[in-house]
Amino acid sequence: MQLHVAGGNLTAQRVDTYVVTVPEGARRLAGQTAAVDRALDGAIAAQLAAGVATGKDGEITALAAGDGVHAQRVVVLGTGKRDEAETADRLRTRIANASRRLRTLGVGSVALGLGGVTSPIDPASAGRAIAEGLLLGLYRFDKHHTRAADRAQGSIGDVTLVEPAAGRVAEVRRGVEQGRVLAEGQNLARDLGNEPANLMTPTIVAQQAQRIASETGLECKVIERAEAERLKMGSFLSVANGSVQPPKFIVLTYRGGRGNRFVGLLGKGITFDTGGISLKPGDGMESMKGDMTGAASVIGAMQAIARLAPRVNVMGIAPCTENMPSGSATKPGDVVYAMDGQSIEVINTDAEGRLVLADALAYAKQQGCDTLVDIATLTGAMNVALGSVRFGVFANNDRVWSDLERASGAAGERVWRMPLDREYADQIKSDVADVKNTGGRAAGSVTAAKFLERFAGNTPWAHLDIAGVMNASSDRGVLVKGNSGIPVRTLVHFVLGRAR
Ligand code: BES
Ligand code: MN
Ligand code: ZN
Repeated sequence: MQLHVAGGNLTAQRVDTYVVTVPEGARRLAGQTAAVDRALDGAIAAQLAAGVATGKDGEITALAAGDGVHAQRVVVLGTGKRDEAETADRLRTRIANASRRLRTLGVGSVALGLGGVTSPIDPASAGRAIAEGLLLGLYRFDKHHTRAADRAQGSIGDVTLVEPAAGRVAEVRRGVEQGRVLAEGQNLARDLGNEPANLMTPTIVAQQAQRIASETGLECKVIERAEAERLKMGSFLSVANGSVQPPKFIVLTYRGGRGNRFVGLLGKGITFDTGGISLKPGDGMESMKGDMTGAASVIGAMQAIARLAPRVNVMGIAPCTENMPSGSATKPGDVVYAMDGQSIEVINTDAEGRLVLADALAYAKQQGCDTLVDIATLTGAMNVALGSVRFGVFANNDRVWSDLERASGAAGERVWRMPLDREYADQIKSDVADVKNTGGRAAGSVTAAKFLERFAGNTPWAHLDIAGVMNASSDRGVLVKGNSGIPVRTLVHFVLGRAR
């Protein structure tokens, strides 16, 4: 699907389908909708008068177009009550839902009239929201259905956004380009996360990272087991002990600024989490193929960052390994040493995410990262606390928190700040080592964050626990059932904010 932006009148476009908008309870049609209605001798007004179309948010009414216009069909899209302020968020969601309906209708090429709907939103944000709504809403992961009938049906042709205000066209176009890059980054993360673990081993993640690096001009370095041993990444390597798949510690570097300081994005890359010797129950274990969503979102964000080329240096780090039980696996009670020399008592081998991130944080600091953001499907307790609506953010620095909050607002991804009070650290004191890797049932997400905080040290740091938002349970707005690709867009907006 190609995305175009045009100026002028919607009725000048020769396409299969016009999409026009009406607000709920509209007495008179306005703008491009009125122009199409006139060309159709009042057919749209007739739908409204008969109550067939009501303008309710997201409602779709399809009409045959007849001879009056250069299109076969007109789709009337409801935009809801006028008194509810239009926002980029609502627009993105409405377009995503509508795009799936249009796909079911099997529309060919589409021209979408922007007119009055988007005028309360700045044109770049409107263009970005629409591009994201289309590309994220139409995402599907059906490559492993070998019979065509089992794959999602329908398609949608090229889409042209028609902006009547000449002064807004260039900015809408700029927004569309940015939205495309952001959505493609998020869809890349979804692809990596949805792929089953036998087809997305650490080796394959590393190959994908290398492919993206060569396509976008990023530097890519993959630290193999032997080098990780030389670097003394004992915490990361302890998780890999039980697996026959070689671990891969992936580093993607983007240089857009001066100097040798980086924003570090660090993603947990457990390509499958069985729990190890502290084995998980079988029910639902298949969802643990998504335990590398942190790594996937870093790779997706780095692709988008390379394409948007902001003036800032960014290092994307993805420590990848399976967490498996076997005769060589790490055992509860084992003591391991992280790269920075801290000793860790492994109480529960299922608390493995913090172990791989400990070495990622230590490595990032050594490489010159002066801001650290880690992203991890870290704790089931995060889902208990916030469910799938918001993800938790833990930060040792108010500026990193407020920049992340602003970035998440621009992305339409929702966050909630979580606490890091000193007292929570008491729960992870070890009798035999500097720290232990679990702190009991109470405040499980907080004690996990307190563990990571030790490895961030004094460096400004935030930890995003995305366990609750990893998967969408159904198609809803920009989310499609399966891996959500959250928080790719928040990460990219955060980095863009750091470039200003
Ligand atoms: N990957 C899991 C957390 C998880 C659970 C992510 C559900 C997504 C959905 C993590 O490695 C884990 O197993 N955490 C344990 C920690 C516990 C042993 C302290 C948990 O949450 O039970
Ligand atoms: Mn685990
Ligand atoms: Zn895990």
